[in-house]
Amino acid sequence: MNSAIKKLLLSACLIASFDSLAATASYLDASLSSDKRVELLLEEMTLDEKIGQMCQFVGEASDIDFDSKDTKTDYTLALGDRAGLIKEGKIGSFLKVSTFEEANILQSLAETSRLKIPLLIATDAIHGHGMYMDATTIYATQIGLAASFEPELAELMAEYTASEMRATGFHWAYSPNIEVVRDARWGRIGETFGEDPYLVTEMGNAMVRGYQGKDFGSESNVIASAKHFVAGGIAYNGVNGAPADVSERTLHEIFFPPFVGSIESGVYTIMPAHNEINGIPAHAHEGYLTDLIRNEWGFEGFYVSDWMDIQRLETAHKIVDSEKQADKVAVLAGMDVHMQGPGFFDNVKALVEEGEIPQSRIDHAVSKILYAKFQLGLFENRYTSQEAVDNTLLSKAHRDLALKTAQKSMVLLKNNGVLPLKPGVERILVTGPNADHQALLGEWARVQPDNNVITVLEGINQQYGAGSTIEHVAIARHELISAVELSAVSQSAKQADVVIAVMGENSLRFDTNKTSAENVDRPTLDLVGNQIELLQNIKASGAKLVVVLVNGGPIASEWLTENADAILEAWEPGMYGGQAIAETLVGKVNPAGRLPITVPRSVGHLQSFYNHKPSAFHRGGFYLSSRKPLYYFGYGLSYTTFDYRNLTVPETMTTKDSLTMTVDIENTGQMDGDEVVMIYINDKVSTVTTPVRKLVAFKRIHLKRGEQKTLSFTIDNQDFELLDRHMKPVVEPGEFEIIIGDHVKVATVIARD
Ligand code: BGC
Repeated sequence: MNSAIKKLLLSACLIASFDSLAATASYLDASLSSDKRVELLLEEMTLDEKIGQMCQFVGEASDIDFDSKDTKTDYTLALGDRAGLIKEGKIGSFLKVSTFEEANILQSLAETSRLKIPLLIATDAIHGHGMYMDATTIYATQIGLAASFEPELAELMAEYTASEMRATGFHWAYSPNIEVVRDARWGRIGETFGEDPYLVTEMGNAMVRGYQGKDFGSESNVIASAKHFVAGGIAYNGVNGAPADVSERTLHEIFFPPFVGSIESGVYTIMPAHNEINGIPAHAHEGYLTDLIRNEWGFEGFYVSDWMDIQRLETAHKIVDSEKQADKVAVLAGMDVHMQGPGFFDNVKALVEEGEIPQSRIDHAVSKILYAKFQLGLFENRYTSQEAVDNTLLSKAHRDLALKTAQKSMVLLKNNGVLPLKPGVERILVTGPNADHQALLGEWARVQPDNNVITVLEGINQQYGAGSTIEHVAIARHELISAVELSAVSQSAKQADVVIAVMGENSLRFDTNKTSAENVDRPTLDLVGNQIELLQNIKASGAKLVVVLVNGGPIASEWLTENADAILEAWEPGMYGGQAIAETLVGKVNPAGRLPITVPRSVGHLQSFYNHKPSAFHRGGFYLSSRKPLYYFGYGLSYTTFDYRNLTVPETMTTKDSLTMTVDIENTGQMDGDEVVMIYINDKVSTVTTPVRKLVAFKRIHLKRGEQKTLSFTIDNQDFELLDRHMKPVVEPGEFEIIIGDHVKVATVIARD
């Protein structure tokens, strides 16, 4: 062969091989749309690689010293089988990854797989990136954010959390929790937005926007997960994961709306609940996962199972007799990603080969997962760096927002005039199990470096400065205050003018003395252990008693309500909670949070919620006890006063109209402050029962002393709807009360010709 022919052949070969490379690798072309890239990549994938995308595993393989030279080797060894599975393309995502170095190693293993598909790395970043191994920004928990009645705060928190996640190599937040709570015993209330479907929807939507941005197409966005579908907030006995037996009407009226809202806001993943709903476990509920959510509500993303919940179809719910059958019913119902562990891969592969699961079901699941990976830009950049971490975590903007979430979530429940405290004049005793405790951080947070957290004691000291008479008596445990501690508090209280007692719960994720949290539900709603005894001793000393509550779920204590001089509900206010609490006690912050959940009188008064049906108490109440809760949803005091005037509501509207109304609000007190303006409606007579009132709009505004504002609200036509006897939404003609503050106006809805 002469050399010219040789050259020609060689270049022909090169062109051919280049062509085939271009054809096989075209999904790597970042200029194509994510949809097109998904289509191209799917064509390349084997069944194994497809099912691999549906499999999630945990990281945290061992306590690796990431400074060591051999980190990658050590960590890969510790991963064991998982390392091989990643390289074979049989793992699509991870959770419980501790650090960015670990995330990078996992991604580098994935890059050695045939198709180089990056991993999605997920975490429970609920109110900050709190499960990350190093210090991060920890904001107030969701129940406090809900109390702020300011969805913009939740949106910004999610946006900042997303940026801390991306800087550390994470792409998927298992948040927001948009379950509506109807049983205050549930240990997970702190991670929810409370009892009202409208408030939960607004807050959940805001968080989805914050995490995902417009279309999770930017390098600081992550995908969100609306969870848990559905009705965990009304499970038997308030126990996490117990069955929910709840009418279709209540599901549609109360529990579904936040999920509809999240889907409309573009949420990309949904996590079903641990519990069954009316006899069908959420993870096997094809009627909801596929027919309702995907086909009727138009959900475009994918489902991730909750921890071990597919296996639990066999072991807990007993609707199948093997793990393989559990995998089958879950995938056929619509489940896309399995959290977590081995077994699922082999079972699903066998089920496809046996014709029990159609290949199309797998393709559908995988296309959704791959879309997220393309859209997040992971094929182009799957790694992160120390520099990104240093530039992002705990930035000033994030820390400022952490303080703001705490300040805005404070709810003043009682004040007989002792607050605000006057700087420098009182001898103050600070005590209680939460006075100097990181329980302030709440659930889904690791203990943070002391320097990054301001406890209540530190906050009070900050406000009063050196030379003031602040004493502290430490209390070690929430559930058991010792005789020595009780007596020390009594002695010191006698010398004090004011005692600030910081009481409540502890839901810190890894604390061995947790009193409420996931899987730690509350058999009593009163202060746990002998905390009341401590308060009674303080009261007996004659000092003024200011109680600060740190808790996720509401604390129901009649004694406290009657006997404290002031009660500040601080929820779990996050890393700067102590500062926000102290600022509120001294009046630098004027509290304006409102209860996002009713505080019942006792555990025996459950269920207790404001939007009950009219006949709830038409035949009486409880033996020797009022039927009224201690505080209703929406309650909260201020250091100033507001006057509502000139409520204008159209007298008539048609069944197709929205309603626009205006009201003047004036700050008539002595201090600048925020006011949460809430609009409720009541359908006076309806063909099916409707709640005594329901929230349809709210706005938090700031008014300087003496300032007045005119506000305008539009209530959507949909808010006037009820579900008729055939479960069809309809606006019925008749009278509606429009309720704002203490004012009520009636609008008459007339049928439209
Ligand atoms: C919880 C989920 C959480 C998951 C992963 C489960 O036990 O119910 O909310 O996202 O664990 O940590």
